Amino acid sequence: MQERLKELQTEALEKISQTSDLKELNDIRVSYLGKKGPITEVLKGMGKLSAEERPKMGALANEVRDAIAAGIEEKQKHLEEAAVQEKLALEKIDVTLPGRPIKTGNHHPLTRIIEEIEDLFIGMGYTVAEGPEVEKDYYNFEALNLPKGHPARDMQDSFYITEEILLRTHTSPVQARTMEKHEGKGPVKIICPGKVYRRDNDDATHSHQFMQIEGLVVDENIRMTDLKGTLEVFAKKMFGEDREIRLRPSFFPFTEPSVEMDISCKICSGKGCSVCKGTGWIEILGAGMVHPNVLEMAGFDSKKYTGFAFGMGPERIAMLKYGVDDIRHFYTNDVRFLKQFSIHE
Ligand code: FA5
Repeated sequence: MQERLKELQTEALEKISQTSDLKELNDIRVSYLGKKGPITEVLKGMGKLSAEERPKMGALANEVRDAIAAGIEEKQKHLEEAAVQEKLALEKIDVTLPGRPIKTGNHHPLTRIIEEIEDLFIGMGYTVAEGPEVEKDYYNFEALNLPKGHPARDMQDSFYITEEILLRTHTSPVQARTMEKHEGKGPVKIICPGKVYRRDNDDATHSHQFMQIEGLVVDENIRMTDLKGTLEVFAKKMFGEDREIRLRPSFFPFTEPSVEMDISCKICSGKGCSVCKGTGWIEILGAGMVHPNVLEMAGFDSKKYTGFAFGMGPERIAMLKYGVDDIRHFYTNDVRFLKQFSIHE
């Protein structure tokens, strides 16, 4: 019996040393130390032993069992440690490798121009207003001193939805809406960026859908010199001190007097090209002193209050600033064009 126990120990320890698999190790545990295992089997025969031998044999059986259990435990630790090491080796990361560049988008050049213009005017105390793109005839024309049948309505060929509703042809209706909200009390100092729509034929400087930024200041004692000073500050900040500007007398039914502002063409440096149609100048905005009729219709006392307004085209401004030779580039959205405005490269 003693020998059989020693044999079992040697045999089990041999198997334990040979295995390199946790599941197999568990099988060894069950087969040697389990209730139906050979050690238990041997111990069943203890009844045949003398009372003297029995405790000795019991102690030996315990020793064998402990030796096998210890062998299993040690092997298990070893195998678990090896498994962790193997996993770590597989998941090893080479932190010295350069990272993969993340492709990011960037703001559309028009968005950038509009945000730049907004910041500039916010810095001068203006707030940003909004108005609907689908507009009433009343705000788009009538409240701006353009009654039905007025010949100057032809200056802006319109997309009508019904007789009374159209896609706004300019951002000027926001002037009328904002003044109405102020209920005859100044000061008013807003800019309003937004999309506008006209039945214009698309060419290098015209689009049937484009952006405008409206500006409106109404208060006591607002003069033409305030308008001129504001436009000059805007032009110098936007285009740099060296670019030339000029104001030309013009006509808008909602302003009197009215002007248009041109900037010297960047593409040809004023020599004349297809973008400036050979003139060396590009018109970027219309402006003027708010017509007394417009003030009165919106509920302002035109004897007490005066104001100026302007409406500029951000596409034209972006063209001049970045030297873009065709307005259609902003709307075809070719990524090769857009990527040139990326701030990440
Ligand atoms: C107007 O729309 C007036 N509402 C501007 C105004 C506001 C005058 C307040 C006085 C007081 P005009 O039609 O000129 O004006 O357009 C203003 C600007 O929009 C132009 O200077 C130009 O920069 C831009 N623009 C006009 N038509 C187009 C077009 N089809 N495509 C791109 N930009 C255009």
